[in-house]
Amino acid sequence: MTRPSAIRPRDRDAVLQSLRAGVVPRRGQHLVQVGRSQEVSALISDIARIADGGAAFRLVIGEYGAGKTFFLHLVRLIALQKRLVTVHADLAPDRRLHATGGQARSLYSELMRNAATRSKPDGGAIAGVVERFVSSALQEARESETTPQSAIRSRLDALSDFTGGYAFAEVVAAYWRGHDSGDEQIKSDAIRWLRGEFATKTDARAALGVRTIVTDASVYDHLKLMALFVRQAGYHGLLVCLDEMVNLYKLAHTGARKANYEQILRVLNDCLQGTPEGLGFVLGGTPEFLMDPRKGLYSYEALQTRLAVNTFAGDGVVDFTGPVISLGGLTPEDLYLLLTKIRHVHAAGDEEKYLLPDDGLRAFMRHCSERIGDSYFRTPRSTVKQFADLLAVLDQNPGMTWESQVSRVEIAEERNPDLAPIEDDDEATDSGGPDDDGLASFRL
Ligand SMILES: Nc1ncnc2c1ncn2[C@@H]1O[C@H](COP(=O)(O)OP(=O)(O)OP(=O)(O)O)[C@@H](O)[C@H]1O
Ligand SMILES: [Mg+2]
Repeated sequence: MTRPSAIRPRDRDAVLQSLRAGVVPRRGQHLVQVGRSQEVSALISDIARIADGGAAFRLVIGEYGAGKTFFLHLVRLIALQKRLVTVHADLAPDRRLHATGGQARSLYSELMRNAATRSKPDGGAIAGVVERFVSSALQEARESETTPQSAIRSRLDALSDFTGGYAFAEVVAAYWRGHDSGDEQIKSDAIRWLRGEFATKTDARAALGVRTIVTDASVYDHLKLMALFVRQAGYHGLLVCLDEMVNLYKLAHTGARKANYEQILRVLNDCLQGTPEGLGFVLGGTPEFLMDPRKGLYSYEALQTRLAVNTFAGDGVVDFTGPVISLGGLTPEDLYLLLTKIRHVHAAGDEEKYLLPDDGLRAFMRHCSERIGDSYFRTPRSTVKQFADLLAVLDQNPGMTWESQVSRVEIAEERNPDLAPIEDDDEATDSGGPDDDGLASFRL
């Protein structure tokens, strides 16, 4: 029986293209999601706490290719469904939590560019959030028969009490003036300011009459303000997702690395105490980023104490109450299920169009296992890529049998690219010089 396809062509193509390119699908991810139910539940409760005006902090730790980015993306989609605003970015040499040469502001700008809401899941949502703030204040003014000015002012006053809040409120007020008078320039300048895109105070002052801008030192304060602001606009909170945390571990200068870890400690302490309102962090990183005693978070004693993995957990025993979530590898059963899902997506949901039977999936898994051992299911990126490629070949060559092709699949074990340290240009004066790199011999 042919069922009507439940899979939209757009989702199908996006999923298959991403899998073949070895990246996490931007849409249609639910079609291939497998496993991780406890991890997802833990994050759902975090999201509920944030939406309730609380705070959350999680480190998602997994080996290279274990599925961290996939998981973070999934958490983000759930947060959007729960009416949070999400922002996300990869850490990089020029995007850090702490810096003195603009790299922290650059992280902030990247986060804000990627700001997403349920109706704008692909980013660029800040303007819409500000617009909603204004329209909900206008609505309130109508209902309570006050002037729009006083409705907006009373909301902004609540922001002004926080560090950096005065300028933030002034900028939103400037947006409102632009909204009221039809001045598009001032509106777009206000959005640029909120996205951390002003590089100098002089420019900001000329454009908006404010004396400060988002700086390296004020990034965390601005995230807290943004969390309050999105709540005032009618969203439930702000979720900040940071991936590729290993880039901090790779910083060559001890001083720069330590300053970044101090910043993480500050955020962690704040969130575990529940200080920020409606704000949560999810950070994705590899085990060395967390546990390397010389260069990982554990090298910073205060963090090690707070992040020490529950010694009772492991070997099938799990604990999702601490700040660290360990993403184990997928299991062979997970991978089998994943292959069935990819086959299903490829056939656009029509079982009659499946290009190979269940036996074919098993033969494919056997083949991969013989070639690269357990890593075919633990770090499934290349397995998934090869499988999607195989389907593409079978699809385009109708005379071909799956039996003849499975054994021809070339698969190589994935290797973590070199974790060479990144040289600093701006922080060479910080305490401590470049470490000599003992990574070659480093084992967990
Ligand atoms: N839960 C899952 N369900 C389905 N597929 C998954 C899942 N987790 C991972 N994958 C597959 O594995 C691939 C690799 O995952 P991902 O890119 O998230 O790994 P990673 O841990 O972020 O890797 P890296 O260390 O390189 O950043 C994904 O593109 C996806 O195809
Ligand atoms: Mg990743």
